[in-house]
Amino acid sequence: MQSIFRGKHFINLEDFTKEEVDTMLEVSFDLKKNFAMGVATPYLQNQTMFLMFFEQSTRTRNSMEAGIAQLGGHANFLDSSNMQVAHGETPKDTAIILSRFGHAIAARYCNWGIGNQYLNEMAKWSTAPVMNLQCDLYHPFQALADLMTMKEKIGDLKRVKVSIIWAYAESHKKPISVPVSQILLFPRYGMDVVLAHPKGWELPGWVIEQAKANAERFGGSVKVTHNEEEAYEGAHIVIPKNWGSWVNDQTGATTVGASKVIDDRLLAQKSWKCTEAKMATADKDVMYMHALPADRNNEVEDSVIDGPHSIVYDEAENRLHTAKAVMTLLMGGR
Ligand code: CP
Repeated sequence: MQSIFRGKHFINLEDFTKEEVDTMLEVSFDLKKNFAMGVATPYLQNQTMFLMFFEQSTRTRNSMEAGIAQLGGHANFLDSSNMQVAHGETPKDTAIILSRFGHAIAARYCNWGIGNQYLNEMAKWSTAPVMNLQCDLYHPFQALADLMTMKEKIGDLKRVKVSIIWAYAESHKKPISVPVSQILLFPRYGMDVVLAHPKGWELPGWVIEQAKANAERFGGSVKVTHNEEEAYEGAHIVIPKNWGSWVNDQTGATTVGASKVIDDRLLAQKSWKCTEAKMATADKDVMYMHALPADRNNEVEDSVIDGPHSIVYDEAENRLHTAKAVMTLLMGGR
């Protein structure tokens, strides 16, 4: 077990060894057990964390706020539109000041080509850990919660077929950060990962290369296909989820917004929906996962997300336990 985490930044799970990710999981399970038993875990007493959001959130914001309260600390929620960031204050100045006031800074900033750079710039100047609540490239808290959920349900993940499948959605243009973090992480646990999407929704080449390198090193595999049927066939876990077209919209695009985004290119892919018929071709005990929020009846039929194969609420709950583990290790550990 790796035990030295204090002060590290949490921007991308690739920055942590597998042993360190294992420790995060062990601490998550321990915190979950104590939470279930009503045992107090005041590991971060009197610590303050700043949560900066440039975009909307339900799970991420509340898992962090509830999580630090349960650890004995306190969170300040910061809507970036009400901060001097909105008047152009730099990430350097923001990070230096906030880290002098408290014990950690976390931010969600998903604008393509900007978010990850912003977080790294804050990390360069902050004297406290900086945590990524989702950027244009990575969503490490989500991927960690997904991994915890899979471990909880299956145990050893070696040779488990997990299919990350693009799905049609109209609600808003979603970042690529969830599938990117998943395809990088899952092969490190020996899983057979299939990434399926229509042409035009590719993940960046360097992501696929890194994912394949992880598979090579840890005994998993990575396959990319445009064939949705192949992804469902015999899968133990399916994760059908929309992401915006990085290929077509990378120039100056905002990948997250409140308004619907529908065009002819997208409409042509409406058949990429998770249905009961497709689920029937997977393993008989297949599990359906989704980071949520789901665009119901576009990404997935209600009967699937509300059906016996769905584990989305367990997955969402694990956002709390993994968030508490990461905060404990980075802010309170040694
Ligand atoms: N999965 C996830 O990050 O949810 P929120 O956007 O609600 O935080």
